[in-house]
Amino acid sequence: MGTTKPRVLVTRRLTANAAAVAKKSFDAHMATEDLDVAGVLDIMGRWEAEAILIGPKVKLDADAVAALPRSVRIIANSSVGYDHMDAAAAKARGIIVTNTPDVLTDCTADLAFLLLLAASRRAYEYEALMRQGWRQSLGLPDMLGLRPSGKTLGIVGMGRIGRAMASRARGFGMRILYHNRHRLPPELEQGAEYFPDLTAMLPHSQILSLHLPGGEAGTLMDAEAFAALPRGAVFVNTARGSLVDEDALLAALRSGHLFAAGLDVFRSEPAYDRRFAELPNVFLTPHVASATVETRDAMAMRALSNIDAVMAGGAALDPV
Ligand code: DGY
Repeated sequence: MGTTKPRVLVTRRLTANAAAVAKKSFDAHMATEDLDVAGVLDIMGRWEAEAILIGPKVKLDADAVAALPRSVRIIANSSVGYDHMDAAAAKARGIIVTNTPDVLTDCTADLAFLLLLAASRRAYEYEALMRQGWRQSLGLPDMLGLRPSGKTLGIVGMGRIGRAMASRARGFGMRILYHNRHRLPPELEQGAEYFPDLTAMLPHSQILSLHLPGGEAGTLMDAEAFAALPRGAVFVNTARGSLVDEDALLAALRSGHLFAAGLDVFRSEPAYDRRFAELPNVFLTPHVASATVETRDAMAMRALSNIDAVMAGGAALDPV
């Protein structure tokens, strides 16, 4: 007997909880490994789902969107960013596109702060030495880190995640500057100083952290922008690799103009420029800002709720 449940292609591995919900609620094809776009099109060529749950690994450009069967009614991103897909092309085909705002705000700010602390305090270098059996305790004068507490932090992009970063920085006694398209109302600004012009903020930012979507923002941090930061600044990116000219960042790290960087995102993901891994003053993580049990579960559940709402004939909860 055929099923009447909506057909849903789940292209990334979900938490056990979300996987159980997907299987119960839908006629779900669950990927056992995270699929890329070729894998998605291959399955959709044989099995015409009405909904697809994707993450940033599925690069759905306009051609890929055009190749999807007519059955597709919703593409639910299990991510807040959706610069990996051509949302305009999907919407032009009448396909609803959703994302998962809110649920990964804290986790992303947590990881940005981890990178900020780790890069400033040379955590990678000390940790690597300990694993090699280093016996010199207390640190050497030429291996000292920088004290993050009390520094001036420049935040680029003061949306939910930027504001969560600011609230963490307040606990460290930092002066907070921000650049954003629009000035926030005072209750959201909470004492942070607004710079309508990024160029004017950079020279004051002893630490700079990016919190804006990729896509149309383009390459915000190029050689000139890095040069505008004060000497010895720390750079943190948990947003998108496309915002950064990586050659310029490497040059600034090598020359010592930047003290250190903490990077979770890269231009060529899932690959990354291995020259970063050769530098001791870089702390690297592989795009894992949302990778906690709680947050990945919340993201998957939110994506499934979006699918459920649309399949039931209602409005999406998080249309983009
Ligand atoms: C997002 O949701 O956009 C994060 O970068 C995780 O992919």
